[in-house]
Amino acid sequence: MYQLHVKEAADHIQNQLQVEPTVGLILGSGLGVLAEEIENPMTIAYGDIPHFPESTVSGHKGQLVIGELEGRQVIAMQGRFHYYEGYDMQQVTFPVLVMKELGVETLFVTNAAGGVNESFEPGNLMIITDHINNMGDSPLIGPNDDKLGARFPDMSEAYDRDLITHAKNSAERLNLKVQQGVYVGNTGPAYETGAEVRMIRTLGGDAVGMSTVPEVMVANHAGMRVLGISCISNMAAGILDQPLTHDEVIETTTQVREDFLGFVKELLKTLPA
Ligand code: 6GU
Repeated sequence: MYQLHVKEAADHIQNQLQVEPTVGLILGSGLGVLAEEIENPMTIAYGDIPHFPESTVSGHKGQLVIGELEGRQVIAMQGRFHYYEGYDMQQVTFPVLVMKELGVETLFVTNAAGGVNESFEPGNLMIITDHINNMGDSPLIGPNDDKLGARFPDMSEAYDRDLITHAKNSAERLNLKVQQGVYVGNTGPAYETGAEVRMIRTLGGDAVGMSTVPEVMVANHAGMRVLGISCISNMAAGILDQPLTHDEVIETTTQVREDFLGFVKELLKTLPA
Protein backbone atom coordinates (compact mmCIF):
# COMPACT_ATOMS: atom_id res chain seq x y z
CA MET A 1 0.00 0.00 0.00
CA TYR A 2 2.81 2.38 0.93
CA GLN A 3 4.78 1.40 -2.17
CA LEU A 4 1.63 2.07 -4.19
CA HIS A 5 1.47 5.61 -2.80
CA VAL A 6 5.09 6.19 -3.84
CA LYS A 7 4.29 4.89 -7.32
CA GLU A 8 1.20 7.10 -7.67
CA ALA A 9 3.10 10.20 -6.56
CA ALA A 10 5.98 9.43 -8.93
CA ASP A 11 3.60 8.77 -11.84
CA HIS A 12 1.88 12.12 -11.25
CA ILE A 13 5.26 13.87 -11.49
CA GLN A 14 6.61 11.76 -14.35
CA ASN A 15 3.55 12.49 -16.48
CA GLN A 16 4.58 16.15 -16.53
CA LEU A 17 8.26 15.59 -17.36
CA GLN A 18 10.13 15.30 -20.66
CA VAL A 19 13.42 14.10 -19.14
CA GLU A 20 14.34 11.96 -16.17
CA PRO A 21 16.03 13.76 -13.27
CA THR A 22 19.23 12.10 -12.07
CA VAL A 23 20.20 14.27 -9.10
CA GLY A 24 17.88 15.03 -6.19
CA LEU A 25 18.34 18.16 -4.06
CA ILE A 26 16.75 18.59 -0.64
CA LEU A 27 17.05 22.28 0.21
CA GLY A 28 17.09 23.27 3.86
CA SER A 29 15.96 26.39 5.73
CA GLY A 30 16.98 29.54 3.85
CA LEU A 31 18.63 27.47 1.10
CA GLY A 32 15.60 27.10 -1.16
CA VAL A 33 16.90 29.95 -3.36
CA LEU A 34 19.04 27.40 -5.15
CA ALA A 35 15.89 26.18 -6.89
CA GLU A 36 15.51 29.63 -8.47
CA GLU A 37 18.66 28.94 -10.49
CA ILE A 38 17.15 25.90 -12.19
CA GLU A 39 16.63 26.42 -15.93
CA ASN A 40 13.39 25.62 -17.73
CA PRO A 41 11.87 24.92 -14.34
CA MET A 42 8.77 22.90 -13.86
CA THR A 43 7.28 23.48 -10.42
CA ILE A 44 4.81 21.21 -8.70
CA ALA A 45 3.30 22.23 -5.35
CA TYR A 46 3.45 19.46 -2.75
CA GLY A 47 -0.27 19.85 -2.26
CA ASP A 48 -0.88 18.85 -5.89
CA ILE A 49 1.01 15.55 -5.62
CA PRO A 50 -1.02 12.56 -4.46
CA HIS A 51 -0.05 11.34 -0.95
CA PHE A 52 2.53 14.13 -0.46
CA PRO A 53 2.39 15.81 2.98
CA GLU A 54 2.17 19.62 3.00
CA SER A 55 4.92 21.90 4.37
CA THR A 56 4.12 24.21 7.31
CA VAL A 57 7.28 26.05 8.43
CA SER A 58 8.11 29.61 7.35
CA GLY A 59 11.16 29.94 5.13
CA HIS A 60 10.04 26.82 3.29
CA LYS A 61 8.06 26.99 0.10
CA GLY A 62 6.65 23.55 -0.30
CA GLN A 63 7.20 22.67 -3.92
CA LEU A 64 9.27 20.54 -6.24
CA VAL A 65 11.33 22.35 -8.86
CA ILE A 66 12.49 20.14 -11.72
CA GLY A 67 14.79 21.18 -14.56
CA GLU A 68 18.40 21.69 -15.56
CA LEU A 69 21.21 23.02 -13.37
CA GLU A 70 24.82 23.13 -14.58
CA GLY A 71 23.97 20.63 -17.30
CA ARG A 72 22.36 18.11 -14.92
CA GLN A 73 18.74 17.11 -14.74
CA VAL A 74 17.76 17.86 -11.15
CA ILE A 75 14.71 17.58 -8.96
CA ALA A 76 14.76 19.94 -6.00
CA MET A 77 12.63 20.02 -2.88
CA GLN A 78 12.05 23.64 -1.93
CA GLY A 79 11.15 22.92 1.66
CA ARG A 80 11.19 19.56 3.43
CA PHE A 81 9.05 17.77 6.00
CA HIS A 82 10.36 17.87 9.54
CA TYR A 83 9.69 15.33 12.26
CA TYR A 84 9.01 18.20 14.70
CA GLU A 85 6.09 19.35 12.60
CA GLY A 86 4.32 16.18 13.62
CA TYR A 87 4.88 14.12 10.48
CA ASP A 88 5.91 10.56 11.11
CA MET A 89 9.18 9.21 9.78
CA GLN A 90 7.46 7.68 6.73
CA GLN A 91 6.00 11.05 5.78
CA VAL A 92 9.30 12.85 6.35
CA THR A 93 11.08 10.47 3.98
CA PHE A 94 8.27 9.91 1.44
CA PRO A 95 9.79 12.33 -1.12
CA VAL A 96 13.09 10.43 -1.09
CA LEU A 97 11.33 7.26 -2.20
CA VAL A 98 9.46 9.22 -4.86
CA MET A 99 12.78 10.56 -6.16
CA LYS A 100 14.20 7.04 -6.21
CA GLU A 101 11.15 5.85 -8.14
CA LEU A 102 11.74 8.69 -10.65
CA GLY A 103 15.26 7.42 -11.31
CA VAL A 104 17.32 9.63 -9.00
CA GLU A 105 20.56 7.90 -7.99
CA THR A 106 22.43 10.78 -6.35
CA LEU A 107 20.95 12.85 -3.54
CA PHE A 108 22.32 16.13 -2.19
CA VAL A 109 20.85 16.79 1.24
CA THR A 110 21.31 20.27 2.72
CA ASN A 111 20.36 21.92 5.97
CA ALA A 112 20.95 24.81 8.33
CA ALA A 113 22.65 23.58 11.48
CA GLY A 114 24.06 24.84 14.73
CA GLY A 115 27.83 24.70 15.15
CA VAL A 116 28.96 22.45 18.01
CA ASN A 117 32.64 22.22 17.06
CA GLU A 118 34.18 25.33 18.61
CA SER A 119 36.46 25.92 15.65
CA PHE A 120 33.40 26.55 13.46
CA GLU A 121 31.99 29.99 12.72
CA PRO A 122 28.51 31.04 11.66
CA GLY A 123 28.45 31.21 7.89
CA ASN A 124 30.72 28.18 7.41
CA LEU A 125 29.66 25.39 5.11
CA MET A 126 30.28 21.84 6.36
CA ILE A 127 30.56 18.66 4.30
CA ILE A 128 28.78 15.99 6.34
CA THR A 129 31.11 13.02 6.74
CA ASP A 130 28.79 11.01 8.99
CA HIS A 131 25.76 11.40 11.21
CA ILE A 132 24.37 10.38 14.58
CA ASN A 133 20.69 9.54 14.67
CA ASN A 134 19.62 11.10 17.97
CA MET A 135 15.92 11.21 17.10
CA GLY A 136 14.91 8.09 18.97
CA ASP A 137 13.07 6.84 15.91
CA SER A 138 13.90 5.42 12.47
CA PRO A 139 12.11 5.67 9.13
CA LEU A 140 13.14 2.06 8.47
CA ILE A 141 11.05 0.63 11.30
CA GLY A 142 8.21 -1.51 9.97
CA PRO A 143 7.83 -4.12 7.24
CA ASN A 144 10.84 -4.11 4.90
CA ASP A 145 10.45 -3.69 1.16
CA ASP A 146 13.05 -6.25 0.06
CA LYS A 147 12.91 -4.96 -3.53
CA LEU A 148 14.12 -1.58 -2.25
CA GLY A 149 16.81 -2.62 0.22
CA ALA A 150 18.03 -4.90 2.99
CA ARG A 151 16.19 -5.50 6.28
CA PHE A 152 19.36 -4.53 8.14
CA PRO A 153 20.95 -1.96 5.85
CA ASP A 154 24.59 -1.00 6.13
CA MET A 155 25.13 2.61 7.22
CA SER A 156 28.92 2.59 7.42
CA GLU A 157 29.17 4.86 4.39
CA ALA A 158 25.93 6.78 4.71
CA TYR A 159 27.70 9.72 3.04
CA ASP A 160 29.40 8.50 -0.11
CA ARG A 161 33.23 8.60 0.14
CA ASP A 162 33.70 9.58 -3.51
CA LEU A 163 31.19 12.41 -3.17
CA ILE A 164 32.95 13.68 -0.04
CA THR A 165 36.23 13.72 -1.96
CA HIS A 166 34.50 15.40 -4.88
CA ALA A 167 33.09 18.03 -2.52
CA LYS A 168 36.51 18.72 -0.97
CA ASN A 169 38.08 19.09 -4.42
CA SER A 170 35.25 21.34 -5.59
CA ALA A 171 35.65 23.62 -2.58
CA GLU A 172 39.39 23.84 -3.22
CA ARG A 173 38.84 24.83 -6.86
CA LEU A 174 36.55 27.63 -5.66
CA ASN A 175 38.97 28.71 -2.95
CA LEU A 176 36.12 28.18 -0.54
CA LYS A 177 36.84 27.26 3.06
CA VAL A 178 34.60 24.30 3.85
CA GLN A 179 34.50 22.42 7.16
CA GLN A 180 33.85 18.71 7.53
CA GLY A 181 32.15 16.91 10.33
CA VAL A 182 29.53 14.78 11.97
CA TYR A 183 25.91 15.96 11.91
CA VAL A 184 23.71 15.08 14.86
CA GLY A 185 20.00 14.89 14.10
CA ASN A 186 17.77 15.92 17.01
CA THR A 187 14.00 16.01 16.83
CA GLY A 188 13.66 19.67 17.77
CA PRO A 189 11.70 21.89 17.85
CA ALA A 190 13.55 23.22 20.90
CA TYR A 191 17.14 24.25 20.40
CA GLU A 192 19.63 22.52 22.69
CA THR A 193 20.48 23.37 26.26
CA GLY A 194 24.10 24.01 27.16
CA ALA A 195 24.35 20.54 28.72
CA GLU A 196 22.93 18.97 25.58
CA VAL A 197 25.45 20.78 23.41
CA ARG A 198 28.28 19.47 25.63
CA MET A 199 26.78 15.98 25.36
CA ILE A 200 26.66 16.21 21.57
CA ARG A 201 30.29 17.32 21.48
CA THR A 202 31.31 14.46 23.76
CA LEU A 203 29.48 12.04 21.47
CA GLY A 204 31.50 13.25 18.51
CA GLY A 205 29.10 15.70 16.91
CA ASP A 206 30.30 18.82 15.08
CA ALA A 207 26.94 20.27 14.08
CA VAL A 208 23.37 19.79 15.23
CA GLY A 209 20.07 20.15 13.44
CA MET A 210 16.52 18.88 13.17
CA SER A 211 16.49 17.13 9.80
CA THR A 212 18.55 15.18 7.27
CA VAL A 213 19.13 11.94 9.21
CA PRO A 214 15.80 10.29 8.26
CA GLU A 215 16.14 11.18 4.57
CA VAL A 216 19.74 9.98 4.44
CA MET A 217 18.84 6.66 6.09
CA VAL A 218 16.06 6.00 3.59
CA ALA A 219 18.24 7.04 0.64
CA ASN A 220 20.96 4.63 1.79
CA HIS A 221 18.48 1.83 2.29
CA ALA A 222 17.29 2.38 -1.28
CA GLY A 223 20.86 2.31 -2.62
CA MET A 224 21.21 5.99 -3.49
CA ARG A 225 24.52 7.78 -3.05
CA VAL A 226 24.30 10.74 -0.72
CA LEU A 227 26.16 14.00 -0.25
CA GLY A 228 25.30 16.13 2.79
CA ILE A 229 26.03 19.83 3.24
CA SER A 230 25.31 21.84 6.38
CA CYS A 231 25.21 25.58 6.49
CA ILE A 232 26.40 26.52 9.97
CA SER A 233 23.89 29.29 10.57
CA ASN A 234 24.83 29.93 14.19
CA MET A 235 26.70 28.37 17.05
CA ALA A 236 24.51 25.92 18.98
CA ALA A 237 22.30 27.71 21.46
CA GLY A 238 24.05 26.40 24.55
CA ILE A 239 27.37 27.92 23.44
CA LEU A 240 25.97 31.40 22.96
CA ASP A 241 25.61 34.05 25.62
CA GLN A 242 22.28 35.13 24.16
CA PRO A 243 19.11 33.32 23.07
CA LEU A 244 18.91 31.86 19.58
CA THR A 245 16.05 32.71 17.24
CA HIS A 246 14.84 31.24 13.97
CA ASP A 247 15.19 34.71 12.38
CA GLU A 248 18.91 34.60 13.14
CA VAL A 249 19.18 31.20 11.48
CA ILE A 250 17.47 32.52 8.35
CA GLU A 251 19.60 35.69 8.37
CA THR A 252 22.92 33.83 8.32
CA THR A 253 21.80 31.40 5.65
CA THR A 254 20.92 34.46 3.58
CA GLN A 255 24.49 35.72 4.04
CA VAL A 256 26.14 32.47 2.98
CA ARG A 257 23.71 32.10 0.12
CA GLU A 258 26.30 33.05 -2.53
CA ASP A 259 28.91 30.59 -1.20
CA PHE A 260 26.29 27.87 -0.98
CA LEU A 261 24.95 28.49 -4.49
CA GLY A 262 28.44 28.57 -6.01
CA PHE A 263 29.43 25.40 -4.15
CA VAL A 264 26.43 23.33 -5.20
CA LYS A 265 26.71 24.54 -8.80
CA GLU A 266 30.39 23.54 -8.92
CA LEU A 267 29.50 20.17 -7.37
CA LEU A 268 26.96 19.56 -10.13
CA LYS A 269 29.10 20.91 -12.95
CA THR A 270 31.96 18.53 -12.18
CA LEU A 271 29.99 15.63 -10.72
CA PRO A 272 31.57 12.27 -11.65
CA ALA A 273 29.15 9.97 -13.49
CL1 6GU B 1 21.56 25.45 17.30
N1 6GU B 1 20.08 23.37 16.87
C1 6GU B 1 19.30 22.62 16.12
N2 6GU B 1 18.82 21.49 16.69
N3 6GU B 1 18.94 22.91 14.87
C2 6GU B 1 19.43 24.04 14.34
C3 6GU B 1 20.26 24.87 15.05
C4 6GU B 1 20.58 24.49 16.34
N4 6GU B 1 20.59 25.92 14.26
C5 6GU B 1 19.98 25.73 13.09
N5 6GU B 1 19.27 24.59 13.14
